[in-house]
Amino acid sequence: MDGELKQAKQRRVRMRKLLEATAQRAISYLESLDERSVAPSKQAVHGLTGLNQPLQQEPMDPESVIRQLDESITPATMAMAGQRFFGFVIGGSLPAALAANWMAGAWDQNTAYYEATPGTAMLEQIALRWILDLFKLPSTCGGAFVTGATMANFTALAAARNAVLSRVGWKVESDGLFRAPPINVIVSAEAHPSLLKSLGLLGLGRSRVTRVPVDEQGRMRSEELRVSSDPTIVCVQAGNVNTGAFDPIREICSRAHRAGAWVHVDGAFGLWARISPSRVHLIVGLEDADSWATDFHKYLNVPYDSGLAIVRERDTLRAAMAVTAEYLPVKDEHRNPSDYTPELSRRARGVEVWAALRSLGHSGLVDLVERTCAHAKRFAEGLRAAGYVVLNDVVLNQVLVSFRDAETTMKVIAELQEEGTCWCGKTVWQGRTAMRISVSSWATTDADVERSLEAMVHIAAKHIKS
Ligand SMILES: Cc1ncc(COP(=O)(O)O)c(C=O)c1O
Repeated sequence: MDGELKQAKQRRVRMRKLLEATAQRAISYLESLDERSVAPSKQAVHGLTGLNQPLQQEPMDPESVIRQLDESITPATMAMAGQRFFGFVIGGSLPAALAANWMAGAWDQNTAYYEATPGTAMLEQIALRWILDLFKLPSTCGGAFVTGATMANFTALAAARNAVLSRVGWKVESDGLFRAPPINVIVSAEAHPSLLKSLGLLGLGRSRVTRVPVDEQGRMRSEELRVSSDPTIVCVQAGNVNTGAFDPIREICSRAHRAGAWVHVDGAFGLWARISPSRVHLIVGLEDADSWATDFHKYLNVPYDSGLAIVRERDTLRAAMAVTAEYLPVKDEHRNPSDYTPELSRRARGVEVWAALRSLGHSGLVDLVERTCAHAKRFAEGLRAAGYVVLNDVVLNQVLVSFRDAETTMKVIAELQEEGTCWCGKTVWQGRTAMRISVSSWATTDADVERSLEAMVHIAAKHIKS
């Protein structure tokens, strides 16, 4: 018995040492981000090939495993957690959200059912209530905490597909899609490619959609929308990934609903404009839609991966997602998270969302959105002042800039990435090659914006002269 107790104590001591040392490594990493190049060096990336070894026969002690991870992967990471990563639309991790993620990892709660994991299931329920309140959506909506906007679109659109078919007497859950009445799916010419992927996964096809033309900012031309009385889903976008522009949600909902269609909003990052007094005008009519998708790992700055599907009729979402084949209304006092998600076993995603919201409070969240938008505006002003063309109206956190022509723009982007002060990616906007700046991190400061602008302008000037 003494021996067993001794062994248990030794195990606890080893675990504590390992976790404390790992926390120190993670903290050192975060502290190094301001100093290091945002992109990993070519040498560090090349060094990854050294990891590609056969799995050894014998166990390896956990300290060595973590040392190997840190030594080989840390230098090869992109500093997405830092203040000057402006690629794609990528937030960092708020300190409270990261720390909550560590706690959730230690708890290791398979948050499928309330009964087994009441704490983390409850946090998710509370976080959902807060989010619905922040977005000014009905508190009776159903919500699914999923991996990101792609899965949030998938989840909400599964509910949409089932609902529009059930209105014409077809049960998708039991009978599938073969011989089902066709569904018209209408998207804008500027729908995010991942939305089309979600439609493909749902059996609705990536290419059989009807595409509505857009204006010069990428907003759907609602006057071009034609909706028949057949089963129809209209997908609108709140926040174009290039320009940040918003489809006219109110007009689209009004036309679509007159014909009995379902309207879904892809608001991966744009939905957060709803909580900012200076941006809320962009997203008028949000509450008119039937379902919504957003990300937490973008604007809310929680660690990857995290997003949310919202469906006005909670039971419709639950009918599409619950494991039981036929949905029977159950008067549950508590919400079972996996009744609303594609997964059964799942990590406790709501923990970081709860922690991020709790640490920011309403005012911190408003400040986060407004600050990133102000930073985007400053980038646009600085680049215009230096003589470069900003291609979009900077309404949110996205900026598109052209450095004269496609070839020069590509050279500037490549050198900026190599130089390492900041990181921006390439895009093509309505036929023009551009550099896209997305300010999405809580950590970006005014000084980071000025330092990054200086690097952009300096590098661009060299290429324009040459
Ligand atoms: C409008 C829009 N929808 C969907 C997505 C996909 O989001 P995720 O990568 O979180 O799945 C993005 C990503 O940038 C987006 O901008």
